[in-house]
Amino acid sequence: MKRIHGPIYEHRLGVLVRELLPALRAGDRVLDVGCGGGALGAAILSAPGCPAGLVVEGLERVPRGGEPIVVHAYAGGVMPMADESYDVVILADVLHHERAPASLLRECARVSRRLLVIKDHKVEGFWSWCRVSLMDWAANAPHGVPCLYRYNSLAQWHAVPGAVGGELEREWTGLDLYPGWWNVAFGRSLQYMAVIRTKSGGGR
Ligand SMILES: C[S@@+](CC[C@H](N)C(=O)[O-])C[C@H]1O[C@@H](n2cnc3c(N)ncnc32)[C@H](O)[C@@H]1O
Repeated sequence: MKRIHGPIYEHRLGVLVRELLPALRAGDRVLDVGCGGGALGAAILSAPGCPAGLVVEGLERVPRGGEPIVVHAYAGGVMPMADESYDVVILADVLHHERAPASLLRECARVSRRLLVIKDHKVEGFWSWCRVSLMDWAANAPHGVPCLYRYNSLAQWHAVPGAVGGELEREWTGLDLYPGWWNVAFGRSLQYMAVIRTKSGGGR
């Protein structure tokens, strides 16, 4: 499983970094909530176009140990961070693992001074739910991350910026996230990403 998953995960990281970088500014402090092993943060920091002085830290409920970025541990709920203490908060494939997604979103918006970036899945109907569920299980079972098999539709995603008191700045209603046929089966319209300007907007 690892031999198949490795190159697919690397490809996914490359696509996420490419789409994320334009939202980041020199000197930004970024918090990657649910950072897992910290690979996304490390990939952002080592990317050729990475803004100068960028800091990326992680916040994880189940820290793996040995991560390439600083990772703060917490038990979920209220984050051990002050209001607006990071410029950008990232939630990459975390919300669908969270039993209380609305509270997690509110906490992320509280901690973010400028942007909240969400990458997750998008389902419309039974067959897309089946495909996303299969992919979710295959990617997370080896790491012991529990899956809830609950995913938002586009209409549900569109309610998120208002629910956190922010504004949608940019969205992707599909992403070519995986290589080749993996993308045909599990990428494209099953993927969703949004950049939300949080209420304070960071003095944009
Ligand atoms: C599918 S993994 C994604 C890891 C990483 N963000 C990535 O894109 O590779 C989901 C991670 O979110 C973490 N997680 C779930 N709910 C969380 C929460 N409320 N706060 C912090 N981490 C959470 C899980 O422990 C798991 O490591």
